[in-house]
Amino acid sequence: MTRTPIAIVGCGGMGRRHLTGLAALDRSDFCNVELVAVCDINQRNAEDLADEAERALGKRPRVFSSITEMVRAMPEIQGADVATDTGSHHRVATECLRAGLHVMVEKPLAITLRGCNLVLQAAREAGRILSVAENYRRDPINRLARALIQDGAIGTPQLMIETSIGGGNQLFITPWRHQKFTGTLTLDAGVHNADILMYYLGDVESAYGEARLYEKYRYKTNTGGPGGFYAKWADQIPDRIEATGEDAMFGYLRYKSGAIGQWIFHHAGHGLPQHVRQVYGSKGSLSSPGDRNGRPLRLYFDGNREIADESILDYAPSYRLSPLAAQLFGGERVWTYSFPFVEIDAKILATEYHEFAECIQTGRAPEVDGLVGRRDTALVYALFESGKLGRPVTLDEVEAVAVDAYQREIDEYLGLI
Ligand SMILES: NC(=O)c1ccc[n+]([C@@H]2O[C@H](COP(=O)([O-])OP(=O)(O)OC[C@H]3O[C@@H](n4cnc5c(N)ncnc54)[C@H](O)[C@@H]3O)[C@@H](O)[C@H]2O)c1
Repeated sequence: MTRTPIAIVGCGGMGRRHLTGLAALDRSDFCNVELVAVCDINQRNAEDLADEAERALGKRPRVFSSITEMVRAMPEIQGADVATDTGSHHRVATECLRAGLHVMVEKPLAITLRGCNLVLQAAREAGRILSVAENYRRDPINRLARALIQDGAIGTPQLMIETSIGGGNQLFITPWRHQKFTGTLTLDAGVHNADILMYYLGDVESAYGEARLYEKYRYKTNTGGPGGFYAKWADQIPDRIEATGEDAMFGYLRYKSGAIGQWIFHHAGHGLPQHVRQVYGSKGSLSSPGDRNGRPLRLYFDGNREIADESILDYAPSYRLSPLAAQLFGGERVWTYSFPFVEIDAKILATEYHEFAECIQTGRAPEVDGLVGRRDTALVYALFESGKLGRPVTLDEVEAVAVDAYQREIDEYLGLI
């Protein structure tokens, strides 16, 4: 199989996690990429990731601290996997595209809609692939959920409830996730939920809501982050930080189909944590266990009838995983699975890389392209902008930057205006 030469740009926590995805892909029968370079403005992070890559893949990628220098030294590189912090995506992804590289950028596509539009324009002008590494939807359980809805298992969808509450005043992984100008939590993590809300039920037309900053100070607690990948930087995290970015948002969504969405993302929640993902339709309801845990979906019908075993597959005849995902998760029509988090994460990231390389090799469009990535970002900001204006906003208005009362300050700070 042809292996497309790629580079990881951004060798922090997610860069390390991406490497585990590459290693999972490398061990499969479908490997179509080769990691030939790593790049980070922090030389230590890049060197460390190169060492880890050598252990995981048997070959040390070359190390760079500048994209220009990397592309000049290694013109064979075709794709860049941009895993830098959120506030830099618009600059780094644009630089890679202008240097002639295809780009897979971590979510969100960019920190504001102006940033998204800049990256989209760069991809168009360069004629290069732009893929957004949105991983939650690639979880087989979310694939099955979408198939169930599309195959009519619950009838016509009427309502989706997406609730995530918890976190208190804990510092969430890194300080930059709590600052308005670097990609605050509601955007950085909330964009996953935005993607799932539209992956399940289709495009959202308009939204009404608001965002809040509840916890002005955040305190260091669990510094390992998801899967423990951030533990090596624990000493660099202050014990307390002052937060400037919103940590909660509340929304009422109107889908293009006419369905309604209720979205709560409250990462300053104290007391009982809640994670709810439910869809109600004209014939029944679907309850999802959330992401990357492999627990089964549940269907409920009137008369207390519940389906939570393998027979759920009878309601989703169209459900099929890709050959790679089927190999990694143990079947083409997986309805539950059980692996440690780090392995689940790696398997899902492997499918992202595989698709990226396939798109480079065949020219086909990625599933989560720049337009989908921008729409996801627009859904998050719809709640922010709606709160500022005190009225519902359409996602089209947000994408066109016709409403920007919240984002304007970030754009000015970043020189995007
Ligand atoms: N999909 C997921 O589940 C998931 C999970 C965590 C993080 N992420 C995303 O991954 C991205 C990175 O997050 P993280 O937690 O790894 O952040 P991080 O702070 O741990 O790492 C960021 C790295 O990027 C480097 N960097 C910054 N600017 C750069 C530049 N111009 N050129 C090269 N390197 C540069 C930094 O030096 C650092 O090493 C974010 O966009 C985040 O939203 C996604």
